[in-house]
Amino acid sequence: MKFFIDTANLEQIKEAQDLGVLDGVTTNPSLMAKEGIKGQENILKHYEDICKIVTGDVSAEVISTDYAGIIKEGEALAKLHPRIVVKVPMIKDGVKAIKYFSDNGIRTNCTLVFSAGQALLAAKAGATYVSPFIGRLDDVSTDGLRLIEDIRLIYDNYAYHTEILAASVRHPMHIINCAQLGADVVTCPLSAILALLKHPLTDSGLAQFLADAKK
Ligand code: G3P
Repeated sequence: MKFFIDTANLEQIKEAQDLGVLDGVTTNPSLMAKEGIKGQENILKHYEDICKIVTGDVSAEVISTDYAGIIKEGEALAKLHPRIVVKVPMIKDGVKAIKYFSDNGIRTNCTLVFSAGQALLAAKAGATYVSPFIGRLDDVSTDGLRLIEDIRLIYDNYAYHTEILAASVRHPMHIINCAQLGADVVTCPLSAILALLKHPLTDSGLAQFLADAKK
């Protein structure tokens, strides 16, 4: 399973990259705003800076919601770097744009996916990745992991190539459950990746080994 980091924070991206297990980055307009990145020029430069740090795919989201606008913005983003993946919302014009991008060799990440039907449409349009938001489903008392299970079944039934990118992943158990269910990718905060390291028996066992080594 691939690990993506869900942030626009360059320090956190560097830390995850240095760990040696990072396969890519996802961003969204909220994450860019959180880092204070404003204006088209600064946003494009920030994506280039992220691409200089990581060796994997970097999802860059369009903010247009009409077909022509999504195409224009997506083509500009894709030109920035070969590893940029254009992130497009699951709306009618977004699906049409994903089909256009797919036909023209531009890779896409279909975002804001909350149902199996939406994931099926994204795959049919030729999305490279589909992003079901599991944490936000959990937030409204719906089973986010069940959606991963459903999409896996549907995609396997028809051998769709679209990769399931579990998004809105909030904690280490989400990562483990997504791995059990066969998600291709998880995107999560650095804290969730680092939490996988932790086990009290590892800490106490290491302390014992180091104490015994001094004997
Ligand atoms: O990048 C999309 C998604 O991962 C957002 O997560 O935590 O804001 O629901 P969250």
